[in-house]
Amino acid sequence: MKKRDVLTLRDLARADLDEVLSLAAALKRERAEGHLRPLLAGKKLALVFQKPSLRTRATFDIGMTELGGSALFLGPDEVQLGERETPADCVRVLSRLVDILAVRTFAQDIVAEMAAFGSVPVINALSDLYHPCQVLADLLTLQECKGALEGLHVVFVGDGNNVVHSWLLAAEKLPFRFTLACPEGFEPDREIFDSAVAAGAEVAVTHDPAAAVSGADAIYTDVWASMGQEAEAGDRERAFAAFQVNGELVARAGDDVAVMHCLPAHRGQEITDEVIEGRHSVVFDQAENRLHAQKALMVWCLAAGT
Ligand code: CP
Ligand code: NVA
Repeated sequence: MKKRDVLTLRDLARADLDEVLSLAAALKRERAEGHLRPLLAGKKLALVFQKPSLRTRATFDIGMTELGGSALFLGPDEVQLGERETPADCVRVLSRLVDILAVRTFAQDIVAEMAAFGSVPVINALSDLYHPCQVLADLLTLQECKGALEGLHVVFVGDGNNVVHSWLLAAEKLPFRFTLACPEGFEPDREIFDSAVAAGAEVAVTHDPAAAVSGADAIYTDVWASMGQEAEAGDRERAFAAFQVNGELVARAGDDVAVMHCLPAHRGQEITDEVIEGRHSVVFDQAENRLHAQKALMVWCLAAGT
């Protein structure tokens, strides 16, 4: 069987997404009852990270440990991917040593190159273009707090970034509506958006956040300047000033709206303290769900080889 890489959510068919989300929910329930299933006993995970991380690193490492395996973290200083070592050489070495890789990098091409040259599954742990693991955990969170994804309207207020691109791909497969409200010039990648439309996804882009959130089931936001865009932070702060998720904006949505943020948050910029600490916020459920979703994802990736 072909090895199962997850470079984007396109690598999972609808049935695979359902399988991963339902295993994630089961693993979460069992863990709460004090039971950990050693589904990946003896397996080894390498984390090759070129950008900082709290949630992704911690949840992959703890997740693999809870599944009975072990994890090795290789940060930017050790590997110096593309400087000390090519991505292709790095992955060919690690393929001899571990069973699965999670890679956090800049260009999507780097994670694609590692998947192409590696003989073990490669998971995209965030690139400039996509953040599939985040959106998997977010889907699990929405299932938990809304009961089902069917018919939900998710409104993302902010930048048309890597998290948005993964939402667009999720909307290609799953029956929810997705709207991005962003300033002009910060729309998502045209090709990714057009492909979602062509696949029949109910997706839209608007520049009016107040109108967009009316009736929303979830309001989602993320930092205005992603990792790698630090030099643009000042300009972006000005461009996004009218796109803050604050009490006034949240009040325009339904009373049971869920407020979501992938974290880390810049409180006072894209989201206010009041909202992130408020009764609508599910941000820490999202963070915890990274663990359960990635455990299920690693099991799915390695199922092909067992
Ligand atoms: N949300 C997320 O991916 O967090 P980290 O960057 O801390 O991993
Ligand atoms: N868009 C953000 C997500 C961080 C989890 C970034 O890429 O920095």
